[in-house]
Amino acid sequence: MKILVADCCIRGRQSRTARLMDSAVEAVRAIDGNSVDYVDLKNMELKPFNASMLEQRDALLARGEMNNPMFEQAARFADADMIIIAAPYWDMSFPSQLKIYIEHITVSGITFGADNNGLKGLCRASSMLYLTTRGGYIAEGAKDEGAEYLRALCGMYGIGRFEYIGADGMDIPDGNGASLRLESARRQTCDIARELAGQR
Ligand SMILES: Cc1cc2nc3c(=O)[nH]c(=O)nc-3n(C[C@H](O)[C@H](O)[C@H](O)COP(=O)(O)O)c2cc1C
Repeated sequence: MKILVADCCIRGRQSRTARLMDSAVEAVRAIDGNSVDYVDLKNMELKPFNASMLEQRDALLARGEMNNPMFEQAARFADADMIIIAAPYWDMSFPSQLKIYIEHITVSGITFGADNNGLKGLCRASSMLYLTTRGGYIAEGAKDEGAEYLRALCGMYGIGRFEYIGADGMDIPDGNGASLRLESARRQTCDIARELAGQR
């Protein structure tokens, strides 16, 4: 299985979310035959789409030039058997680097298509695992909108299963509570990553 790992853990080695990601990567790598394609979003300077980039993209698509470097991220994403995305909870969602990455991978004819019946996912992946940590807690009755957005995108990409793990209260000063919550999320992450990466 080829597993694409999109690392949007901006704080690098200090990141709690990166600890979940590292555990997931270790768990999937431990299964024979699995390989990891690592996308370092925190250091990659992808540009948000502006008018000229959109024009260029439309022209390339119209000419069928799907091997153009502009489509590299989309092709890597579409070709993976499983996706892991790790990003901290920022401003009730996730850092903008991840949104810009989504702009780059959401390409008609590569990750999704459309016909008379509507949109059709073109990604190989059977699952996406989203990992996050939050400073506080999600309000009662509310949802992690970043995670829900990724869930919706999975529908569009044709990725059948979406799972996410979120460790809450990382910035709450309650003794070792935050470490315990992170450790509990880390264990859940290992279990679900192993399960998803073992699927064929
Ligand atoms: C720019 C920024 C925005 C944040 N926004 C929120 C927020 O909306 N809600 C929240 O509970 N925590 C928020 N936090 C706290 C982080 O979610 C928390 O510290 C998280 O564990 C950071 O993950 P990391 O250790 O992987 O960097 C924010 C932190 C930063 C730096």
